[in-house]
Amino acid sequence: MCKKTKKSSPPILAPATEGAQKMAQNMAINTAHKAGKKLLKVTGLKVAYGGIQAVKGVDFEVNEGELVTLIGSNGAGKTTIMKAITGMLPVADGDIEYVAKSIKGKGSWDLVRDGLAMVPEGRGVFARMSILENLQMGAYIRNDMHEIANDLEMVFGIFPRLKERKDQLAGTLSGGEQQMLAMGRALMSRPRLLLLDEPSMGLSPIMVDKIFEVIRDVSARGVTILLVEQNASRALGIADRGYVMESGMVTMTGEAKDLLTDPRVRAAYLGE
Ligand SMILES: Nc1ncnc2c1ncn2[C@@H]1O[C@H](COP(=O)(O)OP(=O)(O)OP(=O)(O)O)[C@@H](O)[C@H]1O
Ligand SMILES: [Mg+2]
Repeated sequence: MCKKTKKSSPPILAPATEGAQKMAQNMAINTAHKAGKKLLKVTGLKVAYGGIQAVKGVDFEVNEGELVTLIGSNGAGKTTIMKAITGMLPVADGDIEYVAKSIKGKGSWDLVRDGLAMVPEGRGVFARMSILENLQMGAYIRNDMHEIANDLEMVFGIFPRLKERKDQLAGTLSGGEQQMLAMGRALMSRPRLLLLDEPSMGLSPIMVDKIFEVIRDVSARGVTILLVEQNASRALGIADRGYVMESGMVTMTGEAKDLLTDPRVRAAYLGE
């Protein structure tokens, strides 16, 4: 089951308990990365379901260390893009580069090994497995047992509720708890780029707060994030940059803080 050791895993999951100095170091690394290289570059991407084109030529990029959000209404093509990136749907045209190499045609498992993990829409936890087993599945590509144990404690630190219930079957968890588990499982692969598809969907306001807090925390730990959300104001509130999608195309892009105050975005997505 364990196929590869990541000998020089980045310090993304350093436990928060290591103190302010370590955190400051990590933050400094992150800031440097934000001006750094392109981790993901999508060019002219087209994806179709049979004869119906759902994504019609989309360009966007995510730089190392950034938190980038893709917002847009129902059916805009956000999930389709996430699935194309992770090899779950074929690319009809265009290219997807990850760390400067095309990943077109690569399968999800190979991509996880390269540090690209996704928490899918609907979470996708293994219902008949316990919380602990789900989290262990997330580390299937690793065999650095000591560090896996550390990361498990780190995930339990972020989500104490998962620790309390570690032997409970995932299928019996609430929606919010399943979202925590899905995120925890993805973190167990030590992702370099984490794709999150609608993590706040269907959650109570308190749980939505918690999930956005965690996304920010994970970003501050050095994980580059592409966040798909319908909750545009919350997503733009934590992101560095954003892309707005409509009917399979990117219609606006910019700094998240600028999009948040843009009258067109406010009218279309923030109910103003
Ligand atoms: N399996 C499928 N077969 C045919 N059409 C599909 C399929 N999945 C999605 N589509 C269509 O592709 C378009 C884009 O869908 P997609 O799920 O990517 O939207 P989305 O932006 O993620 O929407 P939402 O915010 O509701 O999740 C929609 O018009 C949708 O009906
Ligand atoms: Mg979707």
